[in-house]
Amino acid sequence: MNVQDNIRDKVVIITGASSGLGEATARLLAQRGARLVLAARRKERLDQLAAELRGAGAQVSVVAADVSRRADVDAIAAAALRDFGRIDVLVNNAGIMPLSPLDKLKVDEWERMIDVNIKGVLYGIAAVLPVMRESGRGHVINLSSVAGFKVFAPIGTVYSATKFAVRAISEGLRAEASAGIRSTIISPGAADSELKHNSSDADTSAGVKAFYEANQIPADAVARAIAYAIEQPDEVDINEIVIRPTVQEF
Ligand SMILES: NC(=O)c1ccc[n+]([C@@H]2O[C@H](COP(=O)([O-])OP(=O)(O)OC[C@H]3O[C@@H](n4cnc5c(N)ncnc54)[C@H](OP(=O)(O)O)[C@@H]3O)[C@@H](O)[C@H]2O)c1
Repeated sequence: MNVQDNIRDKVVIITGASSGLGEATARLLAQRGARLVLAARRKERLDQLAAELRGAGAQVSVVAADVSRRADVDAIAAAALRDFGRIDVLVNNAGIMPLSPLDKLKVDEWERMIDVNIKGVLYGIAAVLPVMRESGRGHVINLSSVAGFKVFAPIGTVYSATKFAVRAISEGLRAEASAGIRSTIISPGAADSELKHNSSDADTSAGVKAFYEANQIPADAVARAIAYAIEQPDEVDINEIVIRPTVQEF
């Protein structure tokens, strides 16, 4: 089988498609013939991207959604079924990284990370799993991080906790899902996106931006890893991909 064909016509939901890795993934999968449902809060960004991709021949739907709200995430899955009649892949990509040391007690940001990075991923699984069970096939791709392998202390303790959780949830889904449903964890190191601008703590923010400028690889490097997982024959489940810049130490 030509793996190129295993992306064409698939209905792929991408959360967090308004920038960074999600946007790069949308562009690559559109080129490869996937039908896309793009979700994020900034609808104007999604509309702009969708118009560009449609201009190049892609079929694209757009949903304004906050993944920390279960009803919003259910609405993304409903839009995919309404517009395309099925869901083949969910790329649970939306995430935030407001870094700071625990001592700064940015408890609101800890809660927000848990809501978006963990609950958002779970709501995504809840929205698509019954559909995938019904059709007997499907693929959930969750974005963890190298910070899901190593606790990124002192500034990334809570962020790491959320990304460890994403790996646990993805592995649990893999173990629970029967034949036909695939579960992939993508764990990037520093990749160019808006994520490095998320920290409200000024001391942390300067260091994070310098780290990214010195290390980052383009977002489409991660998009290619996502495409690799999707394009495999249906019985092949790529469970885990770690993708770092060669110059990144951790
Ligand atoms: N870039 C890296 O170095 C790196 C490394 C490891 C892992 N990751 C992971 O990769 C994923 C994508 O991040 P990125 O690097 O592409 O960052 P990004 O450019 O900041 O993109 C994050 C995306 O998530 C969306 N988002 C944030 N909060 C949301 C919410 N409550 N509801 C819906 N969408 C929300 C944003 O859209 P709106 O603001 O429009 O909602 C945006 O589209 C994240 O899970 C991140 O943790 C990134």
